[in-house]
Amino acid sequence: MTAYDKVTIVGAGLLGHALGLVHALGGCNVVLQDISEERLAWAKNRLPALLDDLVAYGLVETETAEAALSRIGTNADLREAVADADLVVEAIIEDAEAKQRLYSDLEPMLHEGAVLASNTSFLDVFPLVPRSLRPRSLIVHWYTPPYLIDLVDVVPSPEAGQEVANKMVGFLRDIGKKPVLLKKFVPGYIANNIQMAIESEVFRLLDEGVAEISDIDDALRFGLSQRLSLMGQFKKIDYTGLQVVRDIHATGLYTPPRKPTGTPVLDERLARGSSGVMAGSGFYDYGDTDAQELFRRRDSKLARLKLLLSEFEDDL
Ligand SMILES: NC(=O)c1ccc[n+]([C@@H]2O[C@H](COP(=O)([O-])OP(=O)(O)OC[C@H]3O[C@@H](n4cnc5c(N)ncnc54)[C@H](O)[C@@H]3O)[C@@H](O)[C@H]2O)c1
Repeated sequence: MTAYDKVTIVGAGLLGHALGLVHALGGCNVVLQDISEERLAWAKNRLPALLDDLVAYGLVETETAEAALSRIGTNADLREAVADADLVVEAIIEDAEAKQRLYSDLEPMLHEGAVLASNTSFLDVFPLVPRSLRPRSLIVHWYTPPYLIDLVDVVPSPEAGQEVANKMVGFLRDIGKKPVLLKKFVPGYIANNIQMAIESEVFRLLDEGVAEISDIDDALRFGLSQRLSLMGQFKKIDYTGLQVVRDIHATGLYTPPRKPTGTPVLDERLARGSSGVMAGSGFYDYGDTDAQELFRRRDSKLARLKLLLSEFEDDL
């Protein structure tokens, strides 16, 4: 039995339905709720195919998939959907007013011990939560697709005690995820802030004509990320040696890019309709290959990488 047995996901969209799956695979009994009956039907329909993929990738046993599916129900009635919930995961649209309205609707509906977890991407939701709910509110932020990406950001509200945060972190570990605990809310959490720094740097290298797109990507894939995926940055520094790192920083040769506002190359590509995989081209050309097929290929490779990396946990 997990720390939160009954979990209700409010908002069964792109993230919400997948979060239902992840919690059910972790052993929770899940109710998916949405204001749109159509969305709920869409979510319920998609789940068997998603599970089939996870079985095909070797991540989930067939029996586990079947059991998980049997633990997921849907209910469009918010009051009924959350009445028994130990954990309510809010995954509705990223709109402060809609979230605030929902939290105040939830206040009288939740039972005393129920915990509220928002999947917000960038909003500081805590001021939007009624005071009485704040001591048991957190941000629990997932990455897509959450059944393949292990990272989960956990930010307890300023009024939540340490045990609320610890219980959530323990729960997420128990269901096979890799939670990181933030001491305070910061837009972009950890990973997205670092990603912004990388994005600003690759645009700068491209704009300054330093290298071609594929070479910049290769430097990231075969240089940085091979080591980072094993060690992160701080352990990597330990292996380099702290003195070397201090000396390199002391040269002052590195100047961070100016405040990032994108790059003209982005505007050019967008103007000609090259908006990414869904359009058949972005920075690369994908020819006639169907976008869904490309996503499946990516996911299958991500799954293999996830399995491989799980062998190296705490190895170094
Ligand atoms: N898409 C991502 O990659 C991603 C990643 C991390 C976090 N998030 C966050 O997760 C949340 C959901 O994002 P998404 O991409 O799944 O959006 P989405 O638009 O796919 O789904 C949102 C769902 O919420 C429903 N909804 C709207 N108002 C509601 C209400 N009051 N009660 C119940 N349901 C309601 C909508 O009908 C819709 O089905 C957002 O806060 C977003 O920032 C998204």
